Amino acid sequence: MSATRFAFLGAGNMASAMVDGLLAKGAVAASDLSCLGGSGRTAADLAARTGIRLASSLAELAGGADILVVAFKPQQLASADPRLASLTAGKLILSVLAGKRLARLAQTFPEARALVWAMPNTPARIGAGMTAWCTRSPLSDPDRAAVETLLAALGTSLQLDESLMDIAAAVSASGPAFLFEFAAALRDGGVAGGLPPETARKLAVETVLGAARLLARSGTDPEELRRQVTSPKGMTLAGLNRMEARDFRGILRETVLAAKARSEEMSKDA
Ligand SMILES: NC(=O)c1ccc[n+]([C@@H]2O[C@H](COP(=O)([O-])OP(=O)(O)OC[C@H]3O[C@@H](n4cnc5c(N)ncnc54)[C@H](OP(=O)(O)O)[C@@H]3O)[C@@H](O)[C@H]2O)c1
Repeated sequence: MSATRFAFLGAGNMASAMVDGLLAKGAVAASDLSCLGGSGRTAADLAARTGIRLASSLAELAGGADILVVAFKPQQLASADPRLASLTAGKLILSVLAGKRLARLAQTFPEARALVWAMPNTPARIGAGMTAWCTRSPLSDPDRAAVETLLAALGTSLQLDESLMDIAAAVSASGPAFLFEFAAALRDGGVAGGLPPETARKLAVETVLGAARLLARSGTDPEELRRQVTSPKGMTLAGLNRMEARDFRGILRETVLAAKARSEEMSKDA
């Protein structure tokens, strides 16, 4: 058990995934966590469901915490309560806000002892996330351990230089959507070839899942695994040839770079 107290400002999907992961792993006790939302029900619901504390004010939330996780919507940062500046003095701030760089976070949390920007992805909801994160200045050992505990609640994490966050987000934060699109296309291909839709769906989903697990577990390159299922003059090669003819890799490359460019553009908004 860690004695670090984590407070969540914003208690929606991402905060819930973190709270669920922390509690499921036994990394902290429910009494070490607290949350506060906006004008809706999410914070009360999260507290009721998990047993974590529901703060009644920003001062109570921040006052009781050593680490504040900022998990509201990115557009809400501009109208964030100005008292956050002094209430978070000396605390570690971990923001999961898409597109809000460390320099921008430093405007809202100028007196924080450390600033971390983390970019999780949606599989974090089931503890299978991939989170890229960066920090404004090197973390002390205890702070690093606390950040790693928090992010381990969502799955795997990787610290990067901030300059790589846009391209990392294009691969890992947008990546699940690209893979879902691939799965949908695989399913639709099955339907086009005569499978009943539900059968095509099951074949596509389980294939994507199994192939991803094999890829992760094998430790080899995807090209090597592809080679292993591709016999000369076989059916897989016939399909792969068509992918190559239509420049599947080029399309994916453009896809990732378009997401990166949009991420760069969005982070210029205040
Ligand atoms: N979901 C993902 O997979 C994902 C991936 C990467 C990054 N993120 C980032 O995670 C953040 C949260 O996303 P989400 O999907 O969890 O959103 P969400 O489910 O819509 O939750 C938003 C939360 O913010 C709260 N809130 C609204 N106004 C607030 C205010 N003024 N002060 C404090 N809290 C306020 C809401 O509370 P009420 O219910 O009371 O309004 C709600 O608890 C976003 O910044 C997003 O960029 C999400």
